[in-house]
Parts: sequence; structure tokens; C-alpha cells
Amino acid sequence: MNRRQIVIFSAGILACVLVAWALAFLVKGRRATMPIRGPVIMLTAAADIGGPFRLTDHTGKRVTDADFRGRFMLLYFGYTFCPDVCPADLQTMGRALDILAAKGEVITPVFITVDPERDSPAVLKKYVAAFHPRMVGLTGPAAAIKAAAKAYKVYYRAQPGAKPGDTKILMDHTSFIYLVGPDGKAVAAFRGGTRPEVLAKELARLTG
Ligand code: NI
Repeated sequence: MNRRQIVIFSAGILACVLVAWALAFLVKGRRATMPIRGPVIMLTAAADIGGPFRLTDHTGKRVTDADFRGRFMLLYFGYTFCPDVCPADLQTMGRALDILAAKGEVITPVFITVDPERDSPAVLKKYVAAFHPRMVGLTGPAAAIKAAAKAYKVYYRAQPGAKPGDTKILMDHTSFIYLVGPDGKAVAAFRGGTRPEVLAKELARLTG
């Protein structure tokens, strides 16, 4: 190594250290906006989760996010063919609202399908009724579902090998239960698998 090479080499190492330090700082900053409290992930405005959607409900009525303003939404993205995860989480949502009884009436449970090709309003109508009498099922064109999922940073895709029209297609999807505030922004997320009693307790705290 000559002198010039040493200078370039040293400058390179210094740059790497600075980038690593900046990244570490950014990651730490990010984490600070999402404090984890037991089963709850609190979402600040910085998390920017929630946004407009334009869909069709299980009765065939056009519905937008604005229709839920002034109320809380307990929101879940999934699909009716889901063999285990979705039914378990939707059951948890329904049970938590049962536990809250009158206190939970300010919360509307909402299920948005990530499988609109199979989940028509009629399919959703039968499905949501099994979990809670007030649960709203939402579907729509693929592009509208994609936009809604994007607003909530929800990931989904058909598992590899599935062919269009295949009735046994499984979907991979994010399984957070979101509590959305009266202003349409998500205030908290609960991990799938949270117990109904725990969910009810946290909902009482966050909506009371
Ligand atoms: Ni599922």
C-alpha cells in the first residue's frame, strides 16, 4: 500500500462506521415510535398505519373508511378459506367484544378479505355472522383490496403453486388485529394469537 491507498482505505473505513452509526440510530428511533406493551404494539402517527378504502360490505353495500369515522374499528385482514389462523383470530375478536358487552359497542369488528376472487359478499355474509353479530365483512375488486392492504401495511399473496380458480389455494398474510381510532388512524396492533380476555382488557383501556 502506498500513502494514497492508505488514505483512501482509511476514508472508506470511516465512511462505513458513519453509515453503520446512522443506521443504528435510525433503527433505534423507529423502535421508539412503536413501544411494545405486552401483547399490544402501540402505533403512533409516525407508524402511519391506516388510510382510505373503498369496498363493498357483506350485504352488497358500498362502504368507505369514512363510514366508520367517529367509531373504533377492530380490523383484521384474512380470507374465509383460511384453515386455522383467521378463524381463531376472528373468534378472539368476537369473544373480546362479548366480554366488553355494552362497553364494546363503540367498536365495530371488521374483516377485510385478501382473497376477493372467492370471498364475495354472499360468502362473507355467512362467514362473519359466525364470529360476531355486528362483524362487517368487506370485499371488492383486487385493486381496491390491494389499496386497503397497502394503507394498513398488510402483506398477502397466494402461496406458490396455486393456480387461478383453484379452490384450495392457501394465502400467506399478515395476521395483526388493528384497533383503528375514530379518526381512521390505527392506534394499536395486537399479535394474532392474543387471548380474548387480554384483548378485551386492552380494548377497554384504549377505547375508554
Ligand atoms: Ni388466515
